[in-house]
Amino acid sequence: MGDDDLASLAADGPRPHTVPRDRATRAPAGAPHGGGLDGPAGHLRHRGFARFHAAELGVDPDARTDDLQQIADVCTRLPRDPYAPDSNRFRRYSHAVFLPWTDQLSFVPGAPDAEHGTVTEYWQDEHNPEYPNMRRRLPDVPAALRENALLLDLMRADLAQALWLEELHHAPVYVGVHLIKLAVGDRTDAAVPSPNCLHQDGGSPATFTFAHLIGCADISGGENVIARASAAGRQPEDLPDDAVLARFTLTEPLDGYAVHDHRVSHYVGPVRLAGRAHSGQRSILIIGIAPYAPRM
Ligand SMILES: [Fe+2]
Repeated sequence: MGDDDLASLAADGPRPHTVPRDRATRAPAGAPHGGGLDGPAGHLRHRGFARFHAAELGVDPDARTDDLQQIADVCTRLPRDPYAPDSNRFRRYSHAVFLPWTDQLSFVPGAPDAEHGTVTEYWQDEHNPEYPNMRRRLPDVPAALRENALLLDLMRADLAQALWLEELHHAPVYVGVHLIKLAVGDRTDAAVPSPNCLHQDGGSPATFTFAHLIGCADISGGENVIARASAAGRQPEDLPDDAVLARFTLTEPLDGYAVHDHRVSHYVGPVRLAGRAHSGQRSILIIGIAPYAPRM
């Protein structure tokens, strides 16, 4: 996610949807705020990245199966990436604002768009070499999903993993919500993420990225690599062993990882069709967290 602006909070636009306080202002039970050394927040704080399952964030997947299904259903119908229609990449993006001093979390309304209904600007400043300093306008996360209890729990849980960082307590916090599907329907296909190299998501030393697998089926590939920050722009196979900090593949729904963006680089490999399947896909929820930086 990028350090986007609040331009889409147009005065004459639709009112932002504020998540009901009784449901969404609390951190999920068990989610650490202080960051013990052994939990995801501790790993994130001390190593710059963490691997986790939702249960370690205090989110109970068994209590949210219908909500996970709703997110998965949205993923099956994701529109093609409007900036790469031939890439086998499908996506939606919206962002929310979190106010640490009131605990409020509110989705920012998108801008009207003739093709997609509403769209939200997505900006990675110079950190995506494929779209340097380009403000992309992506189809919004559907309004119905903005009240999905699992999505809200994950947004809250991710915030809870990052709030040990003092900088996140003194500015509105941007929470980017990104649904991305890599899909393949042909044995010669490769669905390629963007950027297709180790990278950082940009912004400030207070930027975090969380990834939660929604589901995958009949694919191979999609391996994640976490490496030293200096590896940004390179391919994992070109790195010396001591530059690679972790390699793993997310396989179960709600498996995830997080990076404290400026301290490491991250990568996900292309996805290909597995075995004798006729189609395959990998859908992921990416939640980006960064303090809002005024530019006035
Ligand atoms: Fe990324």
